[in-house]
Amino acid sequence: GASTALAGRHVLVTSGPTHEPIDPVRYIANRSSGKQGHAIAAALATLGARVTLVSGPVALPDPPGVSVVRVETARDMLAACEAALPADAAIFAAAVADWRSEASPTQKLKKQPGQAPPPLALTLNPDILATIAHHAQRPRLVVGFAAETEHVVEHAREKRLRKGCDWIVANDVSGDVMGGDANTVHIITADGTEDWPRLSKQEVAEKLAARVAEAVSCPASRA
Ligand code: C5P
Repeated sequence: GASTALAGRHVLVTSGPTHEPIDPVRYIANRSSGKQGHAIAAALATLGARVTLVSGPVALPDPPGVSVVRVETARDMLAACEAALPADAAIFAAAVADWRSEASPTQKLKKQPGQAPPPLALTLNPDILATIAHHAQRPRLVVGFAAETEHVVEHAREKRLRKGCDWIVANDVSGDVMGGDANTVHIITADGTEDWPRLSKQEVAEKLAARVAEAVSCPASRA
């Protein structure tokens, strides 16, 4: 039967890419499929948690037993995350666009014969993970992801401190991880680094959900 390890707990999960409009018909995006984030939300629900999944545009079905809030932009994702608080834990698996277009024209940019392409000025998006990790209603356990193509663990250690989260799930995305079904991750905590073998995204989700259940049910310390 279903487990109750996370019964009575609320967990926030972000997943998928964000879409940042250039004009009403064009946007900036990335290759995130949402597979890992959605699998984590499903695994947490299986352990009895109430799960709010804030998802950017993905081609996946809503995981069963999960409340899904669909958003498009990073700013919408941040607002939806703040609206979902309080939570006992938050897992930030979304591939949030770092930048958005500075301008937001209400009309489609027109291609003018013989003219140079329009410039695309970018501005920084809010960092959702860092904002929630420093929030007055900070969840007890805050977990970030770090997709790296080199010096994976070293960059992730630095990121854990910079963003103010408890754990970083670091993965090497130099291969076929984006959109694929397998993932090789390292869990970076205050106590050190755990290297997990190459697993399916489903297995990573189940192992991580079990770790989250342990951490939020432990009465004394934070993770
Ligand atoms: O800085 P970087 O994008 O590598 O950090 C990755 C982690 O931060 C992920 O957990 C991602 O979901 C989160 N993030 C975020 N908001 C951003 C950028 C990243 O929540 N604007």
